[in-house]
Amino acid sequence: MKLITELKPKDKLGKLPKDESTLEFGKLFTDHMFIMKYSESKAKEKDKGWYEPKIQPYGPLTLDPAAIVFHYSQEVFEGLKAYRWKNGEIYLFRPMKNLERMTTSGERLVMPPFDKEFVLNSLKELVKIEKEWVPHAPMTSLYIRPTYIGTQAKLGVQPSSDYLLYIILSPVGAYYASGFSPVKILVEEQYVRAAPGGVGFTKAGGNYAASLLAGKKAHDKGYTQVLWLDAAEKKYIEEVGTMNMFFVIDGKIVTPPLTGSILPGVTRDSVLSMARDWGMKVEERLIKIDEVITASENGTLNEAFGSGTAAVVTPVGELCYKDRCMVINGGKVGKVTQKLYDALVGIQYGQTKDPYGWMIKVC
Ligand code: COI
Repeated sequence: MKLITELKPKDKLGKLPKDESTLEFGKLFTDHMFIMKYSESKAKEKDKGWYEPKIQPYGPLTLDPAAIVFHYSQEVFEGLKAYRWKNGEIYLFRPMKNLERMTTSGERLVMPPFDKEFVLNSLKELVKIEKEWVPHAPMTSLYIRPTYIGTQAKLGVQPSSDYLLYIILSPVGAYYASGFSPVKILVEEQYVRAAPGGVGFTKAGGNYAASLLAGKKAHDKGYTQVLWLDAAEKKYIEEVGTMNMFFVIDGKIVTPPLTGSILPGVTRDSVLSMARDWGMKVEERLIKIDEVITASENGTLNEAFGSGTAAVVTPVGELCYKDRCMVINGGKVGKVTQKLYDALVGIQYGQTKDPYGWMIKVC
């Protein structure tokens, strides 16, 4: 396949705000997007159904109101970032991990595979074209949102015969308005995010739609997010929807295992790799909410934090369950959380060596 490029006239290009510290998460979009089509009827051809890959001006999509995505949510997405280094160079963080996960998510929703190398090269080309949009201010970045939708116009419940895969870009600041400071989280008792055998391990938009009501109720009570428990027993810690969850208990880092109902986070994987390399004790295992309460009571709950592309490493200062609230590490950022944050951000922004080969140069 040959990537087609159709650029906006130079005098129509937008730009970053003068004061980049005003950037919020996901509100501003760049001038161009990548888009590629799929049709089952073309699947016997050499590109296995994918055609017309294009970088074109950012703008609305025209879709049939009967498109399967609108009715049966055949949609998966990804989130990754491009970072501007001090020397002006631009890098992506582990982009292939996101494209691999998008393929796995798509497989679960019966969406056809795509050529990951081709999409990565197209993404690099798009970021190169949009390089002026990669912000310079500390802790800003260019958030990348690959999106994959079923577009066939048909009301029968079945996998779509046609798809769009597109990538949009958004210059962003911190995901949480509070930046790198401890957040307050409510352990959700009534609703569940994902059940065994479901789609919890995928980045399906439906997972996020299903989380909105609990999120809104928690938000109205003053919490930043909810922490989900397992669907079967409501005893075990799962994740925070926008982040994987970690605890430091008695000096050990513990996090729930990838049993199928939580997202296999790229940042989660990176945090685990770094902590193991530092010789820290790390356990991926089931964690009962009761264990966290007991650890809080007996003083062994040292720290809690979340990890995610948007959230980076976010300290959790308070966790509330039923009618009790646990203040963690005096509501302050813990040592392990700070060390992981510094190490990760150091690699991402090219301030420290990248021993893992995680950073992929764009230009
Ligand atoms: C991300 O961390 O990139 C996410 O997709 C989480 C959220 C913004 C939906």
